[in-house]
Amino acid sequence: MEFPYTRNRILRQSSAIRDLVAEHRLHANDFIVPLFIIEGENIQEEIPSMPGYYRMSLDKIEAEVKELWQMGLKSVLLFVKVPDALKDNSGTEALNDDGLMQRSIRAIRAAVPGMLIMTDVALDPYSSFGHDGIVVEGEIINDATNEVLAEMAVSHARAGAQFVAPSDMMDGRISMIREALEAEQFQQTGIMAYSAKYASTFYGPFRDALDSAPGFGDKKTYQMNPANGREAEREALMDVTEGADIIMVKPALMYLDIIQRLRSKITHPIAAYQVSGEYAMIKAAAQKGWLNEEAAILESLLAIKRSGADLIATYFAKDAIKLLKNM
Ligand code: PBG
Repeated sequence: MEFPYTRNRILRQSSAIRDLVAEHRLHANDFIVPLFIIEGENIQEEIPSMPGYYRMSLDKIEAEVKELWQMGLKSVLLFVKVPDALKDNSGTEALNDDGLMQRSIRAIRAAVPGMLIMTDVALDPYSSFGHDGIVVEGEIINDATNEVLAEMAVSHARAGAQFVAPSDMMDGRISMIREALEAEQFQQTGIMAYSAKYASTFYGPFRDALDSAPGFGDKKTYQMNPANGREAEREALMDVTEGADIIMVKPALMYLDIIQRLRSKITHPIAAYQVSGEYAMIKAAAQKGWLNEEAAILESLLAIKRSGADLIATYFAKDAIKLLKNM
């Protein structure tokens, strides 16, 4: 049929019909909330390059997770800021069963028993070099790093984490972690693999938040080249084979084609991480009055979902919930 017998605007004429035929919807169940945790008490410090987002001490985090749970947000992804004095080249503090991460897991579990706790597994916040692996003569050593990552994952599981999220991009770490979890009887612990993690400049504000910027060089020998798409398939398929439960693409908005591509190749859930730089861009433009913040938040999240992501780690989770409630 031709115009005037096909009129696409019929399905756009009112919010009722638009809502009825919407192909995608945002929901509280879509979101994973990243949390930045620091030592101390009663501390809530704003991250300068992430206005409206905070590092919090554990007492504040307990209140925060209770609020998240009330809002219907049921999963958190934990990151800790490690004091310089505890950093070294082998991630010793990462394995401390009484370290900040491990204490945080236990505290959140006690505060909100139902909360799904996911933890970042990577050496960079613990590394005196700010790299995701052990450094030997300026190189990031793959296999020795995997050994530490596996122990770190077990330590998190022992503290009560249900999911570990390796964000390091070493080769073979998923199978090493899976084997270590099995060996320690953690058959229920899930792995959310940062499979297609790009060497992105959009992690800048996060590195401010955790004081984890690389001390020398960059992360291009382990994180992916933004030029590559096929390679993301190889990474994701490898992680699935090695035993990952959820596959992640990161950053999100600049890599929607990667999300879509992986969606057509694998049946596992796909997570997208709307990273700190994506948050900062929207915040900065909104502060200048150049963008409508609320509309930008919802549009960006919806676009990520439309591309094929099943879940989204985002610093906008609370904002999104409030906006969705008012719609
Ligand atoms: C560390 C890690 C990074 C992020 C998550 N885990 C930074 C990096 O790889 O340098 C970035 C998250 C963000 O920018 O929001 N392994």
